[in-house]
Amino acid sequence: MKYLFSGILLTALLFGNSTASAQDRGEDLFNQTCVACHTIGGGRLIGPDLANVHTRRDEAWIIRFVKTPQALANSGDADAVALLAEYNGLVMPDQALSDDDVRAVIGFIARTSPAAGVAEAAAVEEVSAADLAEERILLGRNLFVGITRLENGGAACNSCHSVDIDLVMTGGSLAINLTDAVPRLTRMGVNAMMAAPPFPVMRDAFKGKSVTEDERGAIVDFLQASAEPGLTVEPVDYGQQLLAYGIGGLIFLLGIFFILGLRGSNRSVNQSIYDRQISST
Ligand code: HEC
Ligand code: HEC
Repeated sequence: MKYLFSGILLTALLFGNSTASAQDRGEDLFNQTCVACHTIGGGRLIGPDLANVHTRRDEAWIIRFVKTPQALANSGDADAVALLAEYNGLVMPDQALSDDDVRAVIGFIARTSPAAGVAEAAAVEEVSAADLAEERILLGRNLFVGITRLENGGAACNSCHSVDIDLVMTGGSLAINLTDAVPRLTRMGVNAMMAAPPFPVMRDAFKGKSVTEDERGAIVDFLQASAEPGLTVEPVDYGQQLLAYGIGGLIFLLGIFFILGLRGSNRSVNQSIYDRQISST
């Protein structure tokens, strides 16, 4: 009897615990991977508002869709094909989640969805390119290329991305060109991509080094401007950089002359100084 009782207690404890952690897991997963593209009741972002999606679609479909959206559409599933058409062929990336993970996320969506029938919030932010402040565009450009360091030490965007305007250096080609990112994904969408990158490579680059809200705003301004054929971004002021390189180069040359001078004049005495110089460069 005593054992039976403690058995029940233990089961209750374990069960209670696993339910609580499944709940947290759903929330964590949503905030880590889905939030860049979806809201729950906040309106359409890059993908559809997921409020009450569990009442619109059955669980098995959601699980299959979330894990392999494109494969589901390719298989001819009518709902997946319709979604893809509605979003102009913008495919949601496959999510490396287990069935239970997806169930946990669905649980989180179900718990936090506004009551059905509540009007969808129209949260799309519209800013005209002509209203963007020049200094914010420039700050965004400098952050993008790394002339201005990101406050929390994240990698400059152009180590992986490029844009089709004249930047100091050409950007990386690891990831997609971002020239038309704002028209494609909206300002809010691009902002969310930085706040919670849904792509592993980019997520790792900013792990513990998040881009601040102010920086995100400036980069979004810059990317919106870079998509405008009419707007030009002021070229980088090379003057200061050249001056810095010039002084650095002069010191370097003087150093070499100094070493050569030492070698020429009194090689044996100064050999040790020379060796030290060489080993410290
Ligand atoms: C990079 C952006 C992106 C990420 C990240 C993303 N989605 Fe999506 N999602 C989309 C897009 C775009 C669509 C609609 C177009 C399509 O069919 O791919 C979509 C559609 C959906 C749909 C179908 C909605 C409906 O109305 O039927 C569900 C469900 C969904 N996503 C769930 C998730 C979940 C859960 C996650 C996180 C684990 C997630 N998505 C992560 C972009 C994304
Ligand atoms: C370490 C590399 C890396 C860095 C640094 C990086 N990204 Fe990304 N980013 C990626 C990868 C990989 C993707 C996934 C899409 C792809 O493969 O092109 C991506 C996707 C994106 C997308 C979605 C693109 C689309 O059209 O679907 C946006 C927007 C974006 N990044 C913006 C930024 C911004 C802004 C910065 C700087 C704050 C940045 N990224 C820094 C690697 C990076």
